[in-house]
Amino acid sequence: MHNQLRFIIAAAALLAANAALAQDAKVGSLVGDVHQGQQVYRRYCIGCHGARGDGLGDNAPWVDPKPRDFTSATFKCRSTPTGTLPTDEDLFNTIGRGLHATAMPSWGALTKQQRINLVAYIKSFSPRFKEEKAGDPIPIPAESPATAESVHRGAELFQKMNCWSCHGKQGHGNGPSSVGLTDSKGFPITPYDFTSTSQFKCGEGSHDLYRAFMTGLDGTPMPSFADSLEPSAAWDLVHYVQTFGTSKGRVKPVPAGTIRASAPENRPSPADSKDKAKAGGGSEQQ
Ligand code: HEC
Ligand code: HEC
Repeated sequence: MHNQLRFIIAAAALLAANAALAQDAKVGSLVGDVHQGQQVYRRYCIGCHGARGDGLGDNAPWVDPKPRDFTSATFKCRSTPTGTLPTDEDLFNTIGRGLHATAMPSWGALTKQQRINLVAYIKSFSPRFKEEKAGDPIPIPAESPATAESVHRGAELFQKMNCWSCHGKQGHGNGPSSVGLTDSKGFPITPYDFTSTSQFKCGEGSHDLYRAFMTGLDGTPMPSFADSLEPSAAWDLVHYVQTFGTSKGRVKPVPAGTIRASAPENRPSPADSKDKAKAGGGSEQQ
C-alpha cells in the first residue's frame, strides 16, 4: 500500500518534471507556440538559418560571421554560465535586439507573441532543450561608480588579464593573438574594433558587458572570466571598455601610456584627455 502510494507520487513528479522540460517557451506571461513559430521562421529566418536550423540557409555562403546553427544549442548571448543553455528570455531578447555588426538584424518589429513563438521553434532544433534545463542566470551585483579610478584599475586589468592579447592595446581588435582565431565551427572570427562602435553583440548596457565577461561568448574564443574576476574588478573592466566607444562611453578615454598609479594628478580631465589620446594615438604595439 505504502509502496503503491510512493510509486504514484514518484510517477506524478516525473510527469510534472517532463512537462516543465517539454514546455515550449515562456517569458513572463507570454507562452510560445512551436507551430506558430515555425510559420514565422519560414518567412523571416529560413534564408539564413536554414530549414533544418543548421545555419545553412541559401544566404549563408554570403554571410560572415555565419548564421547560428541551432542544432548544437551553442549561443553567444546568455545570462547563464559558460557551457549551459540560455534562458528563454535570453533568446527572446537576442531576437528583439539582433547582433550588432553582423547580418543578424533586430526583429523588434515582430510582435512579442511572434518572438516567443520563434524561441519555442528554435529550441525544437536541438534535443538539448529537452534533456537539460537552462543554466541559472549569473548574479549581477550593483554597479560601482564609473569613476576615473575605476577606469584606471580597469585599464590595468585589461593588461594583466591579457585582454589586450586579442583585443589590442587600444581596443582595435588586433592584438597578437587575434590572428587566425576561429569559432567552434572552424570559421574565422575577429574580436571587433571596440573603438568603431559603442554597441556590442549582446547588448550595450553596463550590465550586458558585465554579463559578457562572466558568461563568455560560447562558441567563440571569448572566454568566461567568472572564475578569475571579482565583481568589483569586472565593473572596473566594464568602465574601461566603455571608454573605447564612439558616443556612449560615460568616461573619457584614458590615453595609452599614462596609466600608472591611480594618483589624483594622473586622472584625465575631460578637457585634456582628448588631446592626449590624439598624441598617444599610433603607439599601439600590435
Ligand atoms: C540575413 C541573415 C539572417 C536572418 C534573416 C536571421 N538571422 Fe539570426 N543570425 C544571423 C547571423 C549571421 C547570426 C550569427 C551572428 C554571430 O555569430 O555573431 C545569427 C544568430 C542568431 C541567433 C543566435 C544568437 C546567439 O546568442 O548566439 C539567434 C537566436 C537568431 N539568429 C535568431 C534568428 C531568428 C529568430 C530569425 C528570424 C526572425 C533570424 N535569426 C534571422 C543571421 C540571420
Ligand atoms: C583569446 C582571445 C580573447 C581574449 C583573451 C579576450 N577576448 Fe574578448 N572577445 C574575443 C573575441 C574573438 C570576441 C568576439 C566574439 C564574437 O564577436 O562573436 C570577443 C568579444 C568581446 C566583447 C564583446 C561582447 C559583445 O557582446 O559583443 C567584449 C566586451 C570583450 N570581448 C571583452 C574582453 C575582456 C575585458 C577581456 C579580458 C578580461 C577579453 N575580452 C579577453 C576574444 C578574446
